Amino acid sequence: MKKNLNKDAYAIVTGASKGLGYAYCEELLKLQYNIIAVARNTNSLKELQKKYSNFKIETWDLDLSDLKNAYKLFEKSKKLDIEIVINNAGYGVWGYFYQTDLEKEMNMIDLNIKSLHIITKKFTQYFMEKNKGRVINIASMGSFTPGPVFSSYYASKAYVLSFGVAINTELKKLKSNVRVVTICPGALKTDFWNRSSSEQRAKLRNKSKSMSSSVYAKNSLKKALKVKKKNYIIFGTFNKLAKKLTKVIPEHIILNSVYKYQRKIK
Ligand SMILES: NC(=O)c1ccc[n+]([C@@H]2O[C@H](COP(=O)([O-])OP(=O)(O)OC[C@H]3O[C@@H](n4cnc5c(N)ncnc54)[C@H](OP(=O)(O)O)[C@@H]3O)[C@@H](O)[C@H]2O)c1
Repeated sequence: MKKNLNKDAYAIVTGASKGLGYAYCEELLKLQYNIIAVARNTNSLKELQKKYSNFKIETWDLDLSDLKNAYKLFEKSKKLDIEIVINNAGYGVWGYFYQTDLEKEMNMIDLNIKSLHIITKKFTQYFMEKNKGRVINIASMGSFTPGPVFSSYYASKAYVLSFGVAINTELKKLKSNVRVVTICPGALKTDFWNRSSSEQRAKLRNKSKSMSSSVYAKNSLKKALKVKKKNYIIFGTFNKLAKKLTKVIPEHIILNSVYKYQRKIK
């Protein structure tokens, strides 16, 4: 991957304290970007600060489900030379919709949708002024289909994909150098399942052969920083095939298999 030559350039990563966000921070450091790492608790970033002491790694403890903090993130960072923003913080609320907790779902919508929307808006405007920069939004393979037993999470990620693809299309029509690229991961081995699922399902997912966040981050970032025409990125043979199948298999069969997959606990 092409290394960044601008010593003052920063990349912002939300949800940077663990999982995919942490892995994106490390990949961006290898590419010689300074980092603004955001999460509710960024203590875990100390290790990266020691390992990459030649770079600036700012750690900002912000709860982005509080929308004031999404504005604050922009206001605080706009004085710096931001080139990349990765909207990665997110989680899900798993279970039958009639039983899931409404407050948790509202909080998830604030984080996965509203906060991401605010940050995308502010930085697209900021990048348009410079005619340079990329917003990278993390959606999911769940963006391509409704998700019985994980309904509001899949719907939140459908928003992220639809929103990003539309904005990126506008940017290309305007012949801008700015991009809003969406990444759609499939299941990864991270803490996501502990927060976003039942205990039994988390155990199952953690035992599975899901891809590691470091492998996924390396490969998806490489593509997201390079693409000129593509609006979204799918990495991995299985994920690419699954996306193709959503185009050819009747919807009721897909819904049935997602239902079975999401219900699976053994
Ligand atoms: N893991 C998967 O299988 C999978 C599949 C498809 C898509 N994704 C998506 O990938 C992204 C990263 O997930 P992951 O798997 O890396 O999950 P993870 O290991 O649970 O990490 C989530 C990150 O988001 C941060 N975060 C959570 N709530 C936040 C809030 N209110 N404000 C600020 N930061 C917050 C967490 O830090 P704190 O707890 O310190 O705030 C953590 O750094 C998410 O958008 C997820 O939906 C994951």
